[in-house]
Amino acid sequence: MNVTDALRSRISVRAFLDDPVETDLIRDILSLACRSPSGGNLQPWKVYVVNGARLSQLKDIIAAKIKDAPRGEGTEYDIYPPALGEPYLSRRFRNGEQLYKTLGIPREDKSLRREQFARNFRFFDAPAALFFSIDRQMGIGQWVDLGMFMQSIMLLAVERGLGTCAQEAWATWHKTIGEFIGIPENEMLFAGMALGYPDPEAPVNTLRTERADLSEIATFL
Ligand SMILES: Cc1cc2nc3c(=O)[nH]c(=O)nc-3n(C[C@H](O)[C@H](O)[C@H](O)COP(=O)(O)O)c2cc1C
Repeated sequence: MNVTDALRSRISVRAFLDDPVETDLIRDILSLACRSPSGGNLQPWKVYVVNGARLSQLKDIIAAKIKDAPRGEGTEYDIYPPALGEPYLSRRFRNGEQLYKTLGIPREDKSLRREQFARNFRFFDAPAALFFSIDRQMGIGQWVDLGMFMQSIMLLAVERGLGTCAQEAWATWHKTIGEFIGIPENEMLFAGMALGYPDPEAPVNTLRTERADLSEIATFL
């Protein structure tokens, strides 16, 4: 598989097979992803791997807590700007619409939509998970570096037949995750990432999201 194929075939996978992911395979992916670039070669990314039984334990803890706190614990950063403007608002709306359409969930069925959203907190039944954090002293530049690290992981996963879904939704459970993992106080949780073998039969995995035309994002002088 070449880079173009990996980029073209990577999608956010939201249904996984039960097949476990060997920790050595995750180690291999992470070692390679460390080749991602970062300003000043700071390598500001931190990643926590939660696999197998430890992940089941974490899912159980969240499942118990989510009943009383469906919105989690609040976030330490704004996942989206509080007053998201156009064209981003429409893109976000369309993304949701397409996801629910793929699943056959009608717009007005708020309960089914909530149920689908809640699957975030089971990592969409992925057998392995990653959490990404960053030292609180870091600024915008280093958060970008963290994003590149995450993209490298996602592409390397595709090459190995694995699927991923980056999940900022996990930022809403930063306290519980921090305690469970033992994330030091000086680090802020950014996101989680589901990791596993994609379920090829699952309708949700047929979604191919749109992209804005190049003319909307690129300026050629
Ligand atoms: C940083 C980041 C956070 C994301 N958080 C979530 C999330 O919490 N839940 C979810 O279902 N998808 C999440 N996504 C997936 C996006 O919705 C997805 O990347 C986008 O719709 C484009 O679709 P594609 O990944 O299939 O190309 C996230 C993606 C990124 C890059």
